[in-house]
Amino acid sequence: MHEYREVFENNKRWVESKLEQDADFFEKLAKDQNPEFLYIGCSDSRVPANEIMGLEPGEVFVHRNIANLVVNTDMNVQSVINYAVVHLKVRYIIVCGHYGCGGVKAAMLPQDLGLLNPWLRNIRDVYRIHQDELDAIPDLTERYDRLVELNVLEQCINVVKVAEVQNRWYQERLPTVHGWVYDLHNGYLKDLKLDMGKELAKIRKIYDLQGT
Ligand code: CO
Repeated sequence: MHEYREVFENNKRWVESKLEQDADFFEKLAKDQNPEFLYIGCSDSRVPANEIMGLEPGEVFVHRNIANLVVNTDMNVQSVINYAVVHLKVRYIIVCGHYGCGGVKAAMLPQDLGLLNPWLRNIRDVYRIHQDELDAIPDLTERYDRLVELNVLEQCINVVKVAEVQNRWYQERLPTVHGWVYDLHNGYLKDLKLDMGKELAKIRKIYDLQGT
């Protein structure tokens, strides 16, 4: 159990330790942000974006929600992508899921979860798209792990569908989109090795916004 006040004590100690390393740390940070990474991850408290990537404040622009979803009509995530691509000009967009994701697990079971239903339906849609592959995996844990991976890949494709992402890609071959899965049991990140050009080529007939 933590006392509420404790976090302010922690904060004070954190400020002091940062200033010990670099007296201008906060002054420099306050001037501007120039992150090369946009990280879209799960809200799960066990998957802290900066820490698992070993990056400092100012180095990663972060969006988190339940089960790291990139929903086409979610103004929140769409605004984050727009700002990161057009204004911050990030080089990499990461969608990072994690094994043991409660959101993905909930979507595997047919049950009524109230307000969460429409959100989790996005994961059920991923299951439907890949139903043949998933149902062929007899072990439930392995099937669950694979759905975590496929969910990440589908959310990467949702990022590739975004107009600003496509426009900048055609001009600069950036940003590149990457799918990762974090393993809660050992702390390691796994790169699902998504090929941005290949993914765009695959969906181009339907989602390409260049009209060619
Ligand atoms: Co999760």
